[in-house]
Amino acid sequence: MEKTIAVIKGDGIGPEIVTEAMGVLDAVAAKFGHAFTYKDAPMGGCAIDAFGVPLPDSSLETCLAADSVLLGAVGGPKWDSQPASNRPERGLLKLRGSMGLYTNVRPARMFSDLSAACPLRPDIAARGIDFVVVRELIGGVYFGDHSTAQVDGEQKATDIMSYAEHEIRRVAHVAFQMAQKRRKRVTSVDKANVLDTSRLWRRTVTEVAKEYPDVELLHMYVDNASMQIVRDPSQFDVIVTENLFGDILSDEASQVTGSIGMIPSSSMGEGTRGLYEPIHGSAPDIAGQDKANPIGTILAAAMMLRYSFNMAAEADAVENAVDQVLKDGFRCGDIMQSGGKLVGCREMGAEIRKRI
Ligand code: IPM
Ligand code: MG
Repeated sequence: MEKTIAVIKGDGIGPEIVTEAMGVLDAVAAKFGHAFTYKDAPMGGCAIDAFGVPLPDSSLETCLAADSVLLGAVGGPKWDSQPASNRPERGLLKLRGSMGLYTNVRPARMFSDLSAACPLRPDIAARGIDFVVVRELIGGVYFGDHSTAQVDGEQKATDIMSYAEHEIRRVAHVAFQMAQKRRKRVTSVDKANVLDTSRLWRRTVTEVAKEYPDVELLHMYVDNASMQIVRDPSQFDVIVTENLFGDILSDEASQVTGSIGMIPSSSMGEGTRGLYEPIHGSAPDIAGQDKANPIGTILAAAMMLRYSFNMAAEADAVENAVDQVLKDGFRCGDIMQSGGKLVGCREMGAEIRKRI
């Protein structure tokens, strides 16, 4: 098969980790007889430096014309003084919105070889961690109106949070269908004791659930959910939640597995084109030092193979190569443990390629 992949290397460690993921994709192409063509799409701080805006039209067009998009990370302190409307993150939000990517999937799975890195009590970790956060990605407060004005002699800021039923329904369907292929349990997370958007969320998810009688539906307030994720993460299979809650809970979920550097994510809308990225940020403090862990990005590339290109065997090959590298003791700094072989970003990528 021939596929065109738009590549957003981004800022900080972005270029290093994306380069390793592309190397792994090339190894997959060679082994399985595919041809992947990469198209650079500058976005984030580097695009602000080169073009004055975080997402130039040409980059958006490259992404919209591609079969899928691979992203490293964007942002960094260098661009903190940019006005809100021109921050690197705005590029990412515009890209998500323009591509219609309403479903963000973030798996929280503990790798058995990394259980020592799990910050939870051993008896809790022993129950296992394997759940998925399904986050609504282009609605809610992220996409409502934002304003700051002078009112009664002081500054007043407002962010509007709103949801329409169809925005809730479509992501709920994805969550239920995912649960059907897993342990058949959806936990819908909201703040229905306070927010109208959450009351609508709960009613709509409950409606959608009627179409999936084989899946158990539970509702949980977001404050309780954040506590339950550290108290007993083994209770979760699929969590579905709105944009801001999903942003927060998915960081928490990733950290209880041991390392945020290991977790990939997919963002999809209608159709097969998606945006695939690690869930961590651009880590400017270690950028350019060959210290970053490329595994989150490499596993994001595996998700791309599986979900956008329907290449299950190829995705398995990448995921098995990652498991094998961990079994063989290779560790980047963020997951280093005693007895491990400390490697940099490039060497980790090379070891994974060897095992494809
Ligand atoms: C994420 C990030 C983004 C978000 C930022 C960079 C805008 O935290 O993908 O989780 O809040 O969605
Ligand atoms: Mg986040």
